[in-house]
Amino acid sequence: MLDLIIKRRSIRKYTDEPVSDADINSLLEAAMAAPSANNKQPWQFIVVRNEDFRRRLAKTHRWSRMCAGAPVVFVVCGEEKRSDHWIEDTSAATENLLLAAVGLDLGAVWVAVYPKFQRESHVRSLLGIPEKIRVLCLVPVGHPAKTKPPGTKYDKSRVHYDGY
Ligand SMILES: Cc1cc2nc3c(=O)[nH]c(=O)nc-3n(C[C@H](O)[C@H](O)[C@H](O)COP(=O)(O)O)c2cc1C
Repeated sequence: MLDLIIKRRSIRKYTDEPVSDADINSLLEAAMAAPSANNKQPWQFIVVRNEDFRRRLAKTHRWSRMCAGAPVVFVVCGEEKRSDHWIEDTSAATENLLLAAVGLDLGAVWVAVYPKFQRESHVRSLLGIPEKIRVLCLVPVGHPAKTKPPGTKYDKSRVHYDGY
């Protein structure tokens, strides 16, 4: 598990090979296995395979272009009224999805939507997301066109024992 966590890198280039339905389901299962405050599970996921939608998601902001080239983009959403912790819960789900992608030899990257209102309204109007549902992020997923070396980023200066 530790190897898999360290192997995870942001992958932004993908081959044309589609992501299978079985893999999509496994990624969703991993995402929904995340912890959530009071077990409220406030998440909702939109699986976007439609090319036109992916191209338009790529225009959400200048760092979201890779959505056009990924065979599938997961839109991670949260129901704000269901939990005060929707951001933490959907973030945990997103990290699970990213780690599961590594386990399936897929590549993925977290593309921020929250907390920028304009980005959120772009995604909302494109995909018909109701007002009560917030959009945390986009996660384009595909078979990696290139790999990156693993890296722990471990920095002992960030660690404090028994007090700051
Ligand atoms: C909250 C969050 C938002 C991010 N937003 C973007 C983004 O919009 N576009 C992008 O290309 N990468 C985005 N990333 C990925 C980071 O750039 C990446 O994790 C960081 O550079 C470290 O690289 P690594 O993931 O390969 O370890 C985001 C990551 C997080 C956690």
